[in-house]
Amino acid sequence: MDHTAPTEPAFPHLPSRPGFIWGVSTSAYQIEGAASEDGRGPSVWDLFCRQKGRVRNGDTADIACDHYHRYPEDVGLMRRLGIGAYRFSVSWPRIFPQGRGHANAKGLAFYDRLLDALAEAGIEPWLCLYHWDLPQALDDRGGWLSRDIAGWFADYATLIAHRFGDRVTRFATFNEPNVCTLFGYALGWNAPGIADAECFARAAHHVNLAHGMATDAIRAARPHAAIGAIHNRQPCHPATASPADTLAARRLDACWNRLYADPTIRAEYPPELEAQLSPWIAPGDMAAIARPLDWFGLNHYSPIYARAAETPLGFAWADAPREAPQTGVGWPIHPEAFRDTLLETHRRYRLPIFVTENGSGGHDTPDETGAVPDEGRIAYLAAYIGAMADAMRAGADIRGYFVWSLLDNFEWGSGYDNRFGIVYVDFPTQRRIPKASFGWYARCIAANRPKLSRAGVA
Ligand code: FCB
Repeated sequence: MDHTAPTEPAFPHLPSRPGFIWGVSTSAYQIEGAASEDGRGPSVWDLFCRQKGRVRNGDTADIACDHYHRYPEDVGLMRRLGIGAYRFSVSWPRIFPQGRGHANAKGLAFYDRLLDALAEAGIEPWLCLYHWDLPQALDDRGGWLSRDIAGWFADYATLIAHRFGDRVTRFATFNEPNVCTLFGYALGWNAPGIADAECFARAAHHVNLAHGMATDAIRAARPHAAIGAIHNRQPCHPATASPADTLAARRLDACWNRLYADPTIRAEYPPELEAQLSPWIAPGDMAAIARPLDWFGLNHYSPIYARAAETPLGFAWADAPREAPQTGVGWPIHPEAFRDTLLETHRRYRLPIFVTENGSGGHDTPDETGAVPDEGRIAYLAAYIGAMADAMRAGADIRGYFVWSLLDNFEWGSGYDNRFGIVYVDFPTQRRIPKASFGWYARCIAANRPKLSRAGVA
């Protein structure tokens, strides 16, 4: 049966790039659940969720999408989509319940099962080491505020590369180091909930050091690994033309767009932040941070807006202009900003780019027939994939695109309210319902599959 809606936007056609990868992304904490099963230790997020007022509706990720048990069904959905790659993260506290020391065999075995299921489905695994779920045991020892964490993270990377490197080639160290440090240490919105400028600078530098040391650790364990990091980059605009807001936007841009990618790839910190960072930088650190990388993971959703404010860093988020179209969760829709970000990232970092997250949040619900008609998400994806095609035609070296996300999941401080999945999850029953966007994305991938010529060559 053809589910194509009459109003369905045409599929964007990418310039032909043999080997272009289509995928979906998820993260461990947002989908796995099984929070206290098989020896998993608590993460900072488990405690954060239990603090009153931190997460909408008091939601927790104890069960989330129950992917820990339902991964065969989820891999089956991926197979139906026709994707070539799946980006997921490993839960550090599932592997090291104490953060270091003794590794948890049952935790490792879960990822063995997942990797085997992906291999069976012909889907390449893209493994990210850190998507924000720091073991609580390490936070108790200072977490990202302690310089020792760089070594703890490198040890974790070594184990993961040794254990899974026979089946995984693509490794990412961090997902969005800007969000976990800025929201976690400067603004207090994410775990561990600290709002302090000095803590932010310390955490940022230690994350960068951990990235460099983990890169070396993976390379030592698996010389043929393709290693990258994943950065959320968004054009940052002042809320008004006032000098104070202009300065605020400049500072947010430094913290958001340059504080991690610049040192790790260009061996330099943004000049705006050097004074704050210098107390934490030891001789030789920049050389340890800026290690050769193979690819750049880019996450992008929308532009952001800043205004001057009396916060630890002197800025606050501002609303987008009223006339800007918005997604169901109020994020501005601006595909040209995506195209420009891709081109700017290409020029600034000169690495092959994989779009490791892009997608649209809403408050989807099934209709009376049980279908989930998320036309807004389809329009968003069509416009953004089209903008990516424009960036490719203008010269950006883009090698792949991953939708965020396969499943509706635990969306951090928004709990289960904001749904980003192309598959609807009915959380009480854990039933999965592919949304209209799921079918659209599958057809978009198929429409872009290289055609075989008469000679049978693509
Ligand atoms: C990104 C995160 C991801 C998810 C999406 C909506 O910032 O990496 O975990 O929350 O936003």
